[in-house]
Formats: sequence, C-alpha cells, structure tokens
Amino acid sequence: MGSELIFRGHDETQPPADAYSPKPPKPWLSMTRPIHYMLREQRLLFVLVGIGIATLAFTLFPSSNSPSRVGYGYGYDPIPTDLARWSNTPSYEHRAGFQIHRVMNSGGKIPLGLKRKGLRIVVTGGAGFVGSHLVDRLIERGDSVIVVDNFFTGRKENVMHHFGNPRFELIRHDVVEPLLLEVDQIYHLACPASPVHYKFNPVKTIKTNVVGTLNMLGLAKRVGARFLLTSTSEVYGDPLQHPQVETYWGNVNPIGVRSCYDEGKRTAETLTMDYHRGAEVEVRIARIFNTYGPRMCIDDGRVVSNFVAQALRKEPLTVYGDGKQTRSFQYVSDLVEGLMRLMEGEHIGPFNLGNPGEFTMLELAKVVQETIDPDAKIEYRANTEDDPHKRKPDITKAKDLLGWEPKVSLRKGLPLMVSDFRQRIFGDHKDNSGTKTTA
Ligand SMILES: NC(=O)c1ccc[n+]([C@@H]2O[C@H](COP(=O)([O-])OP(=O)(O)OC[C@H]3O[C@@H](n4cnc5c(N)ncnc54)[C@H](O)[C@@H]3O)[C@@H](O)[C@H]2O)c1
Repeated sequence: MGSELIFRGHDETQPPADAYSPKPPKPWLSMTRPIHYMLREQRLLFVLVGIGIATLAFTLFPSSNSPSRVGYGYGYDPIPTDLARWSNTPSYEHRAGFQIHRVMNSGGKIPLGLKRKGLRIVVTGGAGFVGSHLVDRLIERGDSVIVVDNFFTGRKENVMHHFGNPRFELIRHDVVEPLLLEVDQIYHLACPASPVHYKFNPVKTIKTNVVGTLNMLGLAKRVGARFLLTSTSEVYGDPLQHPQVETYWGNVNPIGVRSCYDEGKRTAETLTMDYHRGAEVEVRIARIFNTYGPRMCIDDGRVVSNFVAQALRKEPLTVYGDGKQTRSFQYVSDLVEGLMRLMEGEHIGPFNLGNPGEFTMLELAKVVQETIDPDAKIEYRANTEDDPHKRKPDITKAKDLLGWEPKVSLRKGLPLMVSDFRQRIFGDHKDNSGTKTTA
C-alpha cells in the first residue's frame, strides 16, 4: 500500500529514485512563473483595480494630522474652542484612550474608513431643566449624547429639537434600575430638584439618589467612564457658616421632610468618593446653588419660577416667612459652563457652582415686579419646615481651579426666562381653554 502511494504516476522515462541528478537551472522559468500566475484568472486586473481605489481614496480623503483633534480615543478635542480661552491644560492626556490613540496616529494619519467622532456621553435627567441645556451644549460641541430619563419631572419637549439627529438618543429609563451603555462620560443629574417634587415621594427620592447613583457609578466603573455628580447646596443644610465654602460640612437635619433630598445627595457624594478611592473611577462633584432659566417646571414651587408664573398670571407673589431669607440665583447657561469645565478639568471637587450675588426673597420679588408687572402684589405665607435662612456660595475654588465664574446677572437672565414662561403659560392656556390670554 505504502509503495503504491510513493510510486503513483511514475513511468519508465523517470530515473530511479536513488539515481539523483540535479536539474539544470532554468533562470527564465523563475522569472516567468510569477508573471504566468498573475495573468491567470484576472489576478492582475484585481491588483490594478485595488491600487486604483486606494489612490483615489487617499486623494479624496487626505487624513488630517492636526494634533488638536487627537484625544481620548475618539479624536475629541478636550477643550472645545469656546472653552479653550478659559483653560490651556489638555484634560485627557493621562487617560489610556488618549495614549492609545496617539500611538495609533503617530504618523498623523487615522486609519482609512475611521471617521473622527466626538465623545459618547450619557446625561441622566437630560430631559429636565438643567439637563436639557447641558445636552444642547454637548450636541453643539459635536458629541454624541444619550439622555436617560424617566420623565418624572422632565419633558420630551425639552429635547425634542434633537429628535432625528443621529448623535442624539433618548432612553426612557429609571436610574434605580441598572443600565449598561458604552460611554466615555456620565453626567448624573437624574433626581427631582424642587421641594414639591422631591417631597412627593420621599422614598423614591432617596432611592434615586442612593440606588440610582450606585447604578451610574457601577456603569462608570465597568466601562471606564468619567462620572460627574450634580450635588446641591442643600448638603450644607441650614448653614452655620456664611458664605458656604466647600470645606464646610453642613448643618443638616437627618430626619426632616427635606432629608430625602439633602441626605440623599450627601450619600451620593459619599458613594462617588468611595468609588473613586476604592475602584479608581474618575469622578467630579458639583454642588449646585439655585439656578433659574427657560424650561424650568412652571409650578414646581421654586421661588423664581413661582414668582415669574404668578406675576405673568396676575396673581400675588407668595413670600414665605418674613421674606428676609436669602438665596443666590444663577442663570442656567453659567451653570452648564461650570459643569462642562468641571468634567473636562483635572479636579475632583466638590465645587460650589452658583452666583454669589445674594438676594432676599423680597428683593427678588422686586426684580420680578420691575421685569414683569410693577403692580404685582406680595402675599405672605407661613414658612415651610427646614427652609434655610441663608444660602450664598463661596466660589473662590471654582474661580481658581476651573477658571469659572457666572456672567449673567439676575436682571439680564430673568427676562430670558420670562419670555419662555410667557410662551408656555399662554400657550398652555390656549391649549386648555381655547382662549389666548395676554400678559
Ligand atoms: N436647578 C437647581 O436649582 C438645582 C440646584 C441644586 C442641584 N440641582 C441638581 O441638578 C440636577 C438637575 O436639576 P433640575 O433643576 O434640572 O431638575 P429637574 O427636575 O428639571 O430635572 C431632573 C430630571 O431627572 C429626571 N429623573 C428624576 N428621577 C429619575 C429617575 N429615577 N430616573 C431617571 N430620571 C429621573 C426627571 O424626569 C428630570 O428630567 C438634579 O440632580 C438636582 O438635584 C439643581
């Protein structure tokens, strides 16, 4: 059997196996063989077509080697043009993604077919007041944004103008349930922010702050995303120190009606720092002070929205207590700028983000009267439980480390909010009653 296999195909003309005689070299054969090979089955044609396509592609899409567009694995410029004037420190240089991308593009070329993209960013609570303004800025910057919202206080109308944009996605989801997404950054805003809403279901509020934050931190850990928590000035409670500095630990009632929110946010801050220390998650913490602007819920009980809606509806402005308690009011675009700088910067925080201009409730009522209706009446009501007497941020840290400070004064920002409210209130009236009211 074996011998049959060895000698199959041999004939008489072949020399015996043991009679070795080297074949004379045929140099022309080694030259013509590859040519024959190429000419067979149109191989040459394929090669020529391939070369043609490659040449065409390189001519039509020459890749840029601009170093400013290199960053964080997606070619993202960490400091967008409008932020660049505030800071000159590239924020993501230390991240693995950045280095990998740099190595891949050491010749200044990106691989064919790979388009440069912005970051992929999740904004929880992105259909709410602050979240929707943040989404606008991120989309404008060129990033891809996924809004995760359960629409408890948020509205689709706030983000509807992005529907159809391939860089925008909206997921109806409650952050109390886990979620897996591939993203680079997480802005965690999901939580009702006004007392009316967070007191409506206190257990759900604290769950959102604790379990929701745990879930989002878990996601950040799993996918290596940077995480930003929107905490609040409420963590200072009814402060015994004025103005409030980030090092102040606060004066919070752990068993009051506001505790679901105040203590919830304090726990969220704790979790954020524990994930940072224990699991090396990159985190940022913002402590937001009273913010106002277009898209606020109209009847959410927050003082600015209350006064504006009341003045527009020709109702008396309700002042709780003696009206001498103070608050600071920050316009939403200033806050969004601060949040983005914090996310892109090198510092964890916490950072106070607020406008240090301090107003009593009565002073605020006066500005609203001046802006909307000088004849608006003021009505006094008994104060609510745990209402802090004073609130004013010390923003030295944000100024020094983020190069940030608010720019929009109350007198400038209020008219912008008033026109949005005017349109929504009288639009609402038209929808509901069929009659259009005028201010
Ligand atoms: N606006 C302010 O003055 C202020 C002040 C301090 C802190 N903050 C913080 O900023 C963040 C945003 O505040 P805002 O003023 O835009 O409030 P908002 O109520 O307008 O927005 C909150 C958003 O979170 C969503 N949400 C609530 N619970 C959720 C859940 N379990 N799962 C998914 N989505 C949920 C809501 O539907 C809403 O879209 C909040 O975390 C708030 O605590 C705001």
